[in-house]
Amino acid sequence: MPLTREDIVAQFSARFGQPPEWIVRAPGRVNLIGEHTDYNDGFVLPLAIERAIWIALRPRHDRHVAVFSADFDAREEFSLDGMSKGSGWVEYLKGTAWALAEAGHRLTGWEGVVQGDVPVGAGLSSSAALEVGTARAFAAVSHIEWDPATMARLGQRAENRWIGVNCGIMDQLASAAGQDGHALLIDCRSLDIRPAPLPAGVAVVILDTGTRRGLVDSAYNERRSQCETAAEFFRVRALRDVSLELYEQRAAELPEITRRRARHVITENLRVERAVDAMQRGDAAALGKLMNESHASLQEDYEVSSDALNAMVDAARKHPACFGARMTGAGFGGCAVAIVQAEASDDFARRVAADYQQATGHSPAVYVTGATPGAEAVRM
Ligand code: GLA
Repeated sequence: MPLTREDIVAQFSARFGQPPEWIVRAPGRVNLIGEHTDYNDGFVLPLAIERAIWIALRPRHDRHVAVFSADFDAREEFSLDGMSKGSGWVEYLKGTAWALAEAGHRLTGWEGVVQGDVPVGAGLSSSAALEVGTARAFAAVSHIEWDPATMARLGQRAENRWIGVNCGIMDQLASAAGQDGHALLIDCRSLDIRPAPLPAGVAVVILDTGTRRGLVDSAYNERRSQCETAAEFFRVRALRDVSLELYEQRAAELPEITRRRARHVITENLRVERAVDAMQRGDAAALGKLMNESHASLQEDYEVSSDALNAMVDAARKHPACFGARMTGAGFGGCAVAIVQAEASDDFARRVAADYQQATGHSPAVYVTGATPGAEAVRM
């Protein structure tokens, strides 16, 4: 059962003896296509999912933030004056407060409860959702105007500078700017967003391999610097500026690994463009085929897939209702995403989970999801 507004209101009321003043919802995300392109100033096509982080809160008259996490059964408190880094889930809140303050916002303290149903470490951006949800909470009580792109940038800054993870903009922006029933074509250079409708009769299914890999951060940073090396070779700001023609003319001069990394990014950007065209035409088969190609490129050229992800994608593609499937997010573990005929999605979920479990011995989780609005704050 997904978490609801009633659940979070009940959590708040049980702790504070009265209802909250604000309810915030910030969704996780799944990316349909456009992987490892965001930090190359390229294109991505994520959607905000039904699973989200919820915060119920009320303002305080001092400069303290006190939050109870229902998921961790723990309470944390910090002052907005003189914050220093520590550890644990509260760092996402502190880091976001730091980024907002650094951008010149005068913040009001608040107290509340936080609870979510975005699985942690699965590649569905629970941390981005917490950052964006925190920003939305501060914006509500501190009367800061909510501009999704600006706030996503601040969430990313919290992640980069406070948490120390060198991510791109996709996750925070998807959580901040999601649209009901639509994926978002994001230009990660301009942050321009174009909604792309999910084809009629198609369900998006998230397939969690149940595997979590350490060392994702170091492999991620290594990929980033390989892309930067390739961009320097082509004398451009980012790989986004290299056309396939230019790449093909000069690729032979590159060392083999750099050549393959660049090929993934350059062809992936083109696939995103085609995927949006396919969605505009309502052509689920074409979209699915591009997703399959994306997976192959991530597996062979970018080398960020894993045995578990490959097994999941294979299991998904065996089902007759599947249009296409690929790994999603940073990779190495976590989730795959498939698009399937909506009327067969329950059967798909059951059979793919069983096949995958049989093939790998891992316990999967399967979520059928719609595309939801981005972070919202509602006054009670
Ligand atoms: C992680 C990062 C994103 C993006 C993806 C890969 O989710 O947080 O910024 O780079 O990996 O596409």
